[in-house]
Formats: sequence, C-alpha cells, structure tokens
Amino acid sequence: MVRPVDRCRVCGRDDWLDVLSFGETLLAGDFQDPADPPGDRYPLDVAVCRECRLMSLRHVVSPEKLFEHYLYVSSDSGLITGHSRRLVEHSVAGLGLAEGDLVVELGSNVGAQLAMFQEAGLRTVGVDPARNLAAAANERGVETLPEYFTTAAAVRVAERHGPARMVLGRQCFAHIDDVHEVLDGATRLLTADGVLAIEVPYLVELLANNQFDTIFHEHLSYFSLGTLHRLFGGHGLRVFDVWTAPVHGGSIVVFATPEASPRPTRPVVGEMLADERARGLTGEDVYRRFAARVERVRAEIGDLVRGLVAGGATVAGYGAPAKGSALLQACGLGRAEVAFCTDTTSLKQGRLLPGSRIPVCSPEEGTARRPDYFLLLAWNYAEEIIRKERRFLEDGGRFIVPIPEPRIVSAQTVTA
Ligand code: TMP
Ligand code: ZN
Repeated sequence: MVRPVDRCRVCGRDDWLDVLSFGETLLAGDFQDPADPPGDRYPLDVAVCRECRLMSLRHVVSPEKLFEHYLYVSSDSGLITGHSRRLVEHSVAGLGLAEGDLVVELGSNVGAQLAMFQEAGLRTVGVDPARNLAAAANERGVETLPEYFTTAAAVRVAERHGPARMVLGRQCFAHIDDVHEVLDGATRLLTADGVLAIEVPYLVELLANNQFDTIFHEHLSYFSLGTLHRLFGGHGLRVFDVWTAPVHGGSIVVFATPEASPRPTRPVVGEMLADERARGLTGEDVYRRFAARVERVRAEIGDLVRGLVAGGATVAGYGAPAKGSALLQACGLGRAEVAFCTDTTSLKQGRLLPGSRIPVCSPEEGTARRPDYFLLLAWNYAEEIIRKERRFLEDGGRFIVPIPEPRIVSAQTVTA
C-alpha cells in the first residue's frame, strides 16, 4: 500500500534535503461514507533532490488506492473552462493542429477538455485509470480507455488511431511515479513535429504563496521548469514554450517537441529557467525558509479558527477540495471547529472529510445554514467565489482566506 522513495524519480540519485513533515495523515481525497471505517494513515514527508531539485514526497501510496475510484471531477468553473478553451485555440491557431489530427490526453477525467478539442474538429482519445470517470467520459462521446498511460497503452492507441499531433496531460503528471514510462509512451505516440503539453502546479507559486495544503499523498512531485526541462531532455524532447496559467494556485504548461522538430524554441523558456535560478531554486535556503513559513502559517490558521469558535462564532468550510482536507489535518482542525463543508461536486455531498469526519453538503444547504465565517478551502477560486457570494458578505458573513497568510474578508474589505 505504501513504499518509501529512495531514488529520485527524475534523476535516479538518492540524496535528499528534508523539507517538511506532516506526520502520518489520512488520504486527503478519501471522502468517506458515514458507514465506512475511519481509513488508514500514511506518512506525509516532503524533500528536495539535491541533484535535480525535484521536490517529492518520501513515500508513495499505491495508485490503486488513490485513483481507481476517484471523486475529483475536473472543475467547470469559469476560470478552468476559460483556460481549457485557450488551450484549444492555441493548439489550432498557435501550434497548427488541423482538422482530423489526433489529440491524446492522459488523466482526461470526464473528458471536458477533449470534448472542446472535438468541437474544434480534432480526433481525440482519453486515457484515465479512474473507471468511474472514464465511464462518464465514454457516455458523453469522448472515447476514453480506463487505464494508466503506460508505454503499452500508448502503443495500442497509436496502432488503432495513428500517431498523435498532441499528447496532453493536465494536472496529472505530479501524480505519476514512473514519469519515464509516460514520457516513453508519449514519444512513441507523437508525430515528428508533435507537441507534448504538460500542465502542473508551479513550484515557484507553491513556495511563494505557502501552498502547503497542496502537499498530500496524491501529489508525488512538485515541479519547477528546470526539473521538467532536464527530465524531458533525457527523453529526446525539447521544451520550446512555456505558459503560466492562473489555475490551481498558479500552474505552468510546458510544451515540448521531439528534438529534431522544426518548431522554434521561444525565448521565454531560457528566461524562466534563469528566473528560477535567480530565485534560488537550485540552492537550499529557499526550501528551508519555505518550511519555516509553513510551520508558522499552519499554527496561525489553527489559532485563528479556534479563537473565533471560542468566541462563539460558527465556521464552515467553503469547498471540500482534497487540499482542504489536507489543510484541516495540517492545522489540527476538526468537527469541533468546522461544522460542515459545502461543495458543488454531487459525488462529495453526503460524504465525510477523512479523519475529521466533517460532513459535506451542497452550497445551497450551506448558505441556508449561514455560518458566521466560511473558511475558503477552495482558495484557488477565491475571486470567483467571493464575487458569487456577495449576498453572504453583504449580510455580514466573512471569509477566512487561509493562504498565503490567513486573512479575513468582509464586505468592507472587498469594496475597499
Ligand atoms: P480543485 O481546486 O481541486 O478544483 O477543487 C475545488 C473544489 O471546490 C471542488 O470540489 C469543487 C469545489 N468548489 C465549490 O464547492 N464551489 C465553487 O464555487 C468552486 C469554484 C469550487
Ligand atoms: Zn533528482
């Protein structure tokens, strides 16, 4: 079920700088049925490889346990769909994908992104090991193999559908232990000028904004461009462009192509690599300072919420993302402090957060129960949510935004 990481999954060295330990915690995304037993705890420690600067968990929980019945449905929020649409537009207008070209997506979830590629006239195949989600994708007409993206799966896709002009992986690469197998599969699938587009939460944002709650068992790796550049290069893939995207707390989309491909490398690649060095990502101090800030912020969030509750206020969670359950565990908050969490995902409603067994209800029920404070666990949608919940604020309700530093948002602070 769980095994320690010895050798770095990118460079193979075994020389780690320990950064943070959260002790043994419950799987953040394992929302329980009220009849379920409490669930198991697994060590949650993070370290940085001294050779290639991959930030990684020190333990891997088996993917069967994490992903085969997966409750995370990719968001249909305006922020995410806007980004998905830009990717399609760029693939056609910027990268020259033409009608009939094949796009293969790994971790394709319920097929929302691929459905947009289909509308643009492209052929698509999804690959996702979550059987419940793959079934939902197939039902909506997005062909999806309920599998891990292995070399064998990639070869089978190529045999059946021909080579791919694009292989896309959004917000799933950090979940994968054997990244070399995925890159091997991708290189076998791609045309000579094909594009591998990998979107990951950006390590620079994690460090700068104290996003410690994004550290949980599903997220094995926390990538900089530098580390991905090295990893892709080892597979004959040249990074030719990189985007920053305001999704999931700040992400990068890294575009790579076979070395001999005619696509020119944009200057932004070199600039961003230089920026990472200037920020000290190749040193050690930046990670030590991050760890010290996280220890402080964890304590401050816990103290703030406990203080409000002790003063008679009611606090509920807004959103029940996996990182929210990680945050509550890391801050020592449970049902005594947080009465319930609201979430738009129907699969989560009626379930309990792991460990704390805080119940999840619909946003409508949550708003009707009218807590004094909503702890904004889905902080990556802060702007959109605060706009949507104007009424709650105007009626005197407040949000607690936990990171980068805990702060309280009221109607006054929004209009200020
Ligand atoms: P994510 O950050 O991994 O996309 O998860 C966000 C979670 O927050 C997801 O379970 C849906 C939920 N959510 C709400 O409950 N209300 C909202 O307005 C938004 C944008 C998300
Ligand atoms: Zn390494």
